[in-house]
Amino acid sequence: MADGRTSTTDEGTMRALLLENIHPEAERLLGERGIEVRTVKGALDTDELVAALDGVQLLGIRSKTTVTDEVLERAPSLLAVGAFCIGTNQIDLTAASERGLAVFNAPYSNTRSVVELAIAEIISMARHLTDKNAKMHDGEWDKSAKGAHEVRGRTLGIVGYGNIGSQLSVVAEALGMRVLFYDVADKLALGNARRCHSLEELLAEAETISLHVDGRPGNAGLFGREQFAMMRPRSLFLNLCRGVVVDHEALRDHLLSGHLAGAAVDVFPEEPKTVGDPFTSCLQGIPNVILTPHIGGSTQEAQEDIGRFVAGKLRDYVAAGNTSMSVNLPPVATDRGDRTRILHVHQNVPGVLATVNGVLADSRVNIEGQTLSTRGDLGYVITDVSGPLAEEALAKLRDLPETVRLRVIAG
Ligand SMILES: NC(=O)c1ccc[n+]([C@@H]2O[C@H](COP(=O)([O-])OP(=O)(O)OC[C@H]3O[C@@H](n4cnc5c(N)ncnc54)[C@H](O)[C@@H]3O)[C@@H](O)[C@H]2O)c1
Repeated sequence: MADGRTSTTDEGTMRALLLENIHPEAERLLGERGIEVRTVKGALDTDELVAALDGVQLLGIRSKTTVTDEVLERAPSLLAVGAFCIGTNQIDLTAASERGLAVFNAPYSNTRSVVELAIAEIISMARHLTDKNAKMHDGEWDKSAKGAHEVRGRTLGIVGYGNIGSQLSVVAEALGMRVLFYDVADKLALGNARRCHSLEELLAEAETISLHVDGRPGNAGLFGREQFAMMRPRSLFLNLCRGVVVDHEALRDHLLSGHLAGAAVDVFPEEPKTVGDPFTSCLQGIPNVILTPHIGGSTQEAQEDIGRFVAGKLRDYVAAGNTSMSVNLPPVATDRGDRTRILHVHQNVPGVLATVNGVLADSRVNIEGQTLSTRGDLGYVITDVSGPLAEEALAKLRDLPETVRLRVIAG
């Protein structure tokens, strides 16, 4: 552990620094709780960030700010980092955990947006909308029903029945689609959806396949020549999850041969870094293929929800020490009354709880409530006590060799 003596007793006004154009909802929510918020439009480099974090307890970033071990080392007042996005690769989570800093993100805020794009694409492909639209712009009137279908009654096969896959299931059924799904984990089938016991079973029956698996290492190359060959003739294919999951050359061959009737792809094995960068793919120029620049979750509604969700997590962490859905700290969330609350992040080794309680008992402090949770090397115990807390007891807790971070919220 990096620093076994870090201690904070909350006093005075908390400060937050929000970078990269985070939705104003976050500023509103934090401000409402008396937190002083400074916003900066862009990302900051290491030195700028360290300077801006002077006296700041909460940092909000999106994907372009890198929070390294060095930044955390040089920002001693920091209590928590909010990633106002889905991924947290830009944050050194090990370094944050070693300092007992909480990191939060918004894993679910854009799931509905992905579902809506998938539905739009299924209908677009079934009606050849993108081709018809291109022809109209070229001055061609192609009023033909050939190859155009309703989605009602078609069978949708969902691979990965998590947050997105299961929502897609519900919305697709509302459109009259029949839904099958395959997931490696035990998942409750929603509505009339039916679970398949293998990917092969799903591919043999569905005529629209939509991938919604997570990015675990084994999923790279999940969908290649063999899987496309198993799909029913003239099927539609969608990938809005991860680029590396699909072999694009194999997809191209199956589209060009006519085995597949259309594809919608939102994610690519290699994606341009910034807006305006050039993009190339072997899927370009193929009829009834919809290519989108990883925008499945990119809507104003998702941004607003991310702002609200992550700011809410930061606010609850400041107010009560709650870490529910933290990316790195053990999850503890309990209501706080007007009692003094001791937040103790420690090394997850035997005897820490007994020692903490011994220190409190020795100083004749009455414990009113206590919740412990552990995660890997870390333990986190929230203790609510009545009566005053002697500085001597605090010093003893702070000086325990297992203490990673000690924070006290006064009653
Ligand atoms: N296109 C976008 O803009 C966008 C936006 C948000 C999320 N995503 C991506 O969508 C995917 C799904 O997101 P989510 O929130 O639903 O994730 P999730 O973790 O809730 O669900 C993933 C599901 O896939 C299942 N799974 C994993 N590997 C599998 C396999 N090989 N076969 C069958 N099932 C498998 C898991 O058991 C889980 O139920 C993620 O990869 C995520 O990164 C993309």
